[in-house]
Amino acid sequence: MCDAKVLADVRADISGFSGDLGAVGHALFVKMFQRPGVQDQFPKYKGKSVDSVKAEITAHGKKVVAQLVDFAQKADTSDMSGMVADFISLHTKNKIPHASIAAARDDIISTLAAHGMKSASWGAFLDFFFGAIKY
Ligand code: HEM
Repeated sequence: MCDAKVLADVRADISGFSGDLGAVGHALFVKMFQRPGVQDQFPKYKGKSVDSVKAEITAHGKKVVAQLVDFAQKADTSDMSGMVADFISLHTKNKIPHASIAAARDDIISTLAAHGMKSASWGAFLDFFFGAIKY
């Protein structure tokens, strides 16, 4: 179970956020794609300029951030096993090792901070999330 203070801290950041989750998602993917090899793991984006897929990575990044938000909001009250199973099956189907997911930790933290979600508890929350989706 995730520490109650950690969940409370990240929820406070989420409820204080009034911007656009798509902009957060776009910034996250631009940052992730700066690490060698990451963009190539997405068949849809491989070999394309980041600018030319701006609309797609915005929509995709928004889903990624929304999933983290959803997890933060439900992790202590709901059965997350269906979401976890879907996450694992989607990423294993796309041949993404767990280590590649967890490698996005610092990119996620710095992107959220750049959009005002600066709690020091995001690291602990992400560690909990990465543990929950371990395969
Ligand atoms: C905590 C981090 C992450 C979350 C919450 C997350 C979540 C998601 C979600 C919700 C989708 C489904 C999107 C849709 O239905 O259209 C997805 C797809 C996918 N994710 Fe992740 N993801 C994360 C990290 C990563 C990382 C780091 C990689 C690769 C290095 C990755 C690779 C993929 C791929 C290849 C797909 C399939 C995309 C496609 O169908 O075109 N994910 N992810």
